[in-house]
Amino acid sequence: MDNAVNKEDIKIKQEIVKSLLKKKNAILLAHNYQRDEIQEIADFQGDSLELSIKANKTGAEIIVFCGVKFMAESAAIMNPDKTVILPNENAGCPMVDMITAKDIINLKKAHPGAPVVAYVNTSAECKAVSDICCTSANAVKIVNSLRSEKVIMVPDKNLGSYVQRFTDKEVISWPGYCPPHKMTTPEDVKVLKDKYPGAVFVAHPESTPPTIDAADHVSSTSGMYKFVRESKAKYFIIGTERGIMYRMFKENPDKIFIPSNKRLVCPNMKKTHLDDIIGSLENMDNIIKIPESVRINARKSIENMLAL
Ligand code: 13P
Ligand code: SF4
Repeated sequence: MDNAVNKEDIKIKQEIVKSLLKKKNAILLAHNYQRDEIQEIADFQGDSLELSIKANKTGAEIIVFCGVKFMAESAAIMNPDKTVILPNENAGCPMVDMITAKDIINLKKAHPGAPVVAYVNTSAECKAVSDICCTSANAVKIVNSLRSEKVIMVPDKNLGSYVQRFTDKEVISWPGYCPPHKMTTPEDVKVLKDKYPGAVFVAHPESTPPTIDAADHVSSTSGMYKFVRESKAKYFIIGTERGIMYRMFKENPDKIFIPSNKRLVCPNMKKTHLDDIIGSLENMDNIIKIPESVRINARKSIENMLAL
């Protein structure tokens, strides 16, 4: 398909999605890593924290969640009276699969009294056996709000080690990680900084500790938008999934954004296409269902986070 035809095709599909959303009283939420054509028509885009807050507040009957499964699950946990659709049911997160609820129960036994902080990148079952959730935007705040001197953080060892830099508490981390964020190395950053003198390197807390050491700024995806908007720099090396650049380019036409590593792409975030949204809304399938016993306990962990 040539470019012009492809663009026309996208436009037609976007219009179909918009009219289906209207007809069904549905809202489309999109994570900052989603494909450009989905971000373009989303009712709301954001990082994991903003999306969970938004999902909690919407008056729509149906939430179409364009992100990965754990995000749609969080929306379903908070909104039992609404229908939550994950347009492509295969959009998962490998980090989520790196820990089970049983692993968390064993960690609790090994460290009695230490609260479990579950990154939102966990299954509903894992959230149900944890004490409080966190996202990359609020992890430091959540850990520092806890009374205990020892805290268990699951499943991301990199987020755990990032938080450890900002707390006197002992952080016990599970050895999970995000495969795409692991791609960027300090060597990549050095090569790009040599090529673009004065460039500012922005990293996500899911990056490895040596990459965090090389960063000029570390934040969640939405924190990055704010940082680049307010910074006086011209060149930015972006250490997170490339989908984030859609809005960065749009909001800052005079600034230059360079991916820290061309392989830093999350294949799961790219699984959702306009066709998936159309198909799932037309057929009302790919609806997220969570057993009530799990949902009630998982909800407590998310609510504890949102209360802060
Ligand atoms: P945030 O958008 O919350 O920074 O999360 C990034 C991410 O990797 C989600 O899976
Ligand atoms: Fe999971 Fe990493 Fe993809 Fe986020 S970027 S969904 S943590 S694999």
